[in-house]
Formats: sequence, C-alpha cells, structure tokens
Amino acid sequence: MPSESGKVVCVTGAGGFIASWLVKLLLQKGYTVRGTVRNPADPKNSHMRELEGAKERLTLCRADLLDCQSLREAIYGCDGVFHTACPVTDDPEQMLEPAIIGTKNVIIVAAEAKVWRVVFTSSICTVYMNPNRAPDKVVDETCWSDLDFCEKTKNWYCYGKMVAEKTAWNEARKKEVNLIVINPVLVLGPLLQSTVNASVLHILKYLTGSAKTYANSTQAYVHVKDVALAHIIVYETPSASGRYICAESVLHRGELVEILAKSFPEYPIPIKCSDDMRPRSKPYKFTNQKLKDLGLEFTPVKQCLYETVKSLQEKGHLPLQRCIQDFKWISAL
Ligand SMILES: NC(=O)c1ccc[n+]([C@@H]2O[C@H](COP(=O)([O-])OP(=O)(O)OC[C@H]3O[C@@H](n4cnc5c(N)ncnc54)[C@H](OP(=O)(O)O)[C@@H]3O)[C@@H](O)[C@H]2O)c1
Repeated sequence: MPSESGKVVCVTGAGGFIASWLVKLLLQKGYTVRGTVRNPADPKNSHMRELEGAKERLTLCRADLLDCQSLREAIYGCDGVFHTACPVTDDPEQMLEPAIIGTKNVIIVAAEAKVWRVVFTSSICTVYMNPNRAPDKVVDETCWSDLDFCEKTKNWYCYGKMVAEKTAWNEARKKEVNLIVINPVLVLGPLLQSTVNASVLHILKYLTGSAKTYANSTQAYVHVKDVALAHIIVYETPSASGRYICAESVLHRGELVEILAKSFPEYPIPIKCSDDMRPRSKPYKFTNQKLKDLGLEFTPVKQCLYETVKSLQEKGHLPLQRCIQDFKWISAL
C-alpha cells in the first residue's frame, strides 16, 4: 500500500462517464491523478479541468491503449492504475483490439512500472451471460459468462470484455501484478461530462418518445458514484482480492418505466410491453455482499434514476417540460 504522501495514480480513459467520477473522488481524497485521454484538447474532456483540485493535482496525458510508449509515459512513477478505458460498442472492429490488447498492454506496463495495484473495470457481462445457469442460481463472483454463447449471439461487447478480463488475470498472474476487478452492471447517475454515454442513453430513450414500447426483459442497475467508490475502496483495502460485483438491484423494464413515469409524468414514457404474450421475464438473483463487506453502501435505484433524469435535464439533453408549460402559462397572462 503506498504511503499517504505517495498517492499518485493513473486513470485510463479519464474523460469517460465512470472515470470522470473516479477522478473527481480521487482528487477529493487528495490523490494526484494522471488521467489518460486520446486527445487532451478535445472539448469533450474540458469538464475534467473544472474538477475541484484538478488545477493542482490532475494531469491529462495523451495515451492510446494500443501504444505502449504512451502508456509508459502516463503510468511510470504511479503507485497504482485504474484501467477503465474501453470502447463501449458492439462493433467488433472497434471493440476487440482496444479492449483485449489494450488491457494486456496496461497490465504489462503496470508490471514494468512496479505499481502497487491495478484495478480493472470489467463488467457484469463477463459474469452472468450464460444460458446454462440454473434460474435460481445466485450470481456471484465465481460465475463466468459463456464465451461461445457471446460469440454465437454476436454480442461483441460482452465477448471483448470477457476476453479482456481473462487476459488481465492471465497477464497479472504471469507478471505478478496485484490485480482487482470490478464488475459493474448498467451504470446510471449524474453526468459530469457534456456528452451522453451508452449506459445513460438506455434511460434517455424512454423519456424522449423514441422508445414506443418496453421490452419483456430485466436489467440490473448501479449508481455511478458507487462504482467510482468501489474502485477506490478496493484499491485502498490491502486485503481486497479477486472480482467484485457492483450492482444495486435488478428491475423488469416494466418496473423501470413505472418508476420513471411516477417522478416524470411530463415525458412520453412507454406504457406498453413489446412482448406481453410471453410470461414476464424474471430478474436474476445476484449478490453484492463482497463490496458491502468492504463498507460500500449502495444508492437505491429510485434515487439513482431520479438523479439521472435531473442531470439529463441540467445538461440540456432533455427539455424541461414542466418549465416550458409554466412559461407558456405565464406568458398567456
Ligand atoms: N457504463 C456502464 O454501464 C458500464 C457497465 C459495466 C462496465 N463498464 C465499463 O466501464 C468502463 C467505462 O465505461 P463508461 O460507461 O464510463 O464509458 P465511456 O463514457 O464511453 O468511456 C470510455 C472511455 O474509454 C476511452 N477509450 C475508448 N477506446 C480507447 C482507446 N482505444 N484508447 C484509449 N482510450 C479509449 C474513451 O476515451 P476517448 O475520450 O479517448 O474516446 C472514453 O473515455 C468501460 O471499461 C466499460 O466497459 C461500463
């Protein structure tokens, strides 16, 4: 464990949704952060410079996951690495190489730099995507998705994350890197960046009228601040080890739209299921006990959804329908 004065850490993909929160909390805790981005001058990274403590303790380093030398420049001299950077896409051309080779490169460079620990952001999709799992099985950190199933169903994001996590464990074992993995479910919550990332888009489509119906399926959710905190807690706990499922609860899409409609009735939230002939899909069971045992208190999903929508409004991604209506009423006077 590095000493308090030596808390220099690298966060890859620092301008992303989860990483921005991670950098924010690390700066709040007094860490000095080297955040890698592919283009420090890109306006989409400008929010990073506004974070409290950024002026004094954040450096944005230009780095690409496929360029080891650029990673060396960011990682050498750090006590730890948080590897979050990864494309979030189902396009195999864009996904596989940065996810898999990029992760291997980060572990290799972290080993060369002799950092104390690497925390890798994997995903629940390396854990639960398995058609042979018994319906009542509680999904825990011993579960692995079925790689052939991901390939057959052309789920290239899950395939890429699976191979990336396996590669990370193999490489860490070979190079004696102290590796911890976080496996988050779908992450929601307030955006720090100005753009909308893929997981928050999942909610936006139910508010804009672009989704006319909801699917007969389930999804697990977690608050972005809890995901960022989970990374820091496992980094700072010397006894932490292995994988950590980071999830608050699983909802059927019908429950999700009901919660959204209760808090935000002004939006055209779908009320019809696209497939109500089939029995209602059941949520899978999971445990988040490992992170709870380390002291993480998860934000309830209703609060998480509320904060997500509020943030989408504040960032200008959703019309403030109520305000518009109020304004019309006032201007009619
Ligand atoms: N959000 C979720 O629901 C969720 C759930 C489970 C796991 N995760 C994992 O959490 C991590 C962050 O996700 P996020 O939702 O925060 O995504 P995000 O906002 O899209 O951020 C992804 C970051 O990865 C960087 N990146 C992509 N390709 C790169 C490359 N070739 N070289 C260097 N950087 C590259 C991007 O940097 P640029 O700015 O340079 O493009 C971006 O900052 C990912 O590993 C994702 O798989 C996310």
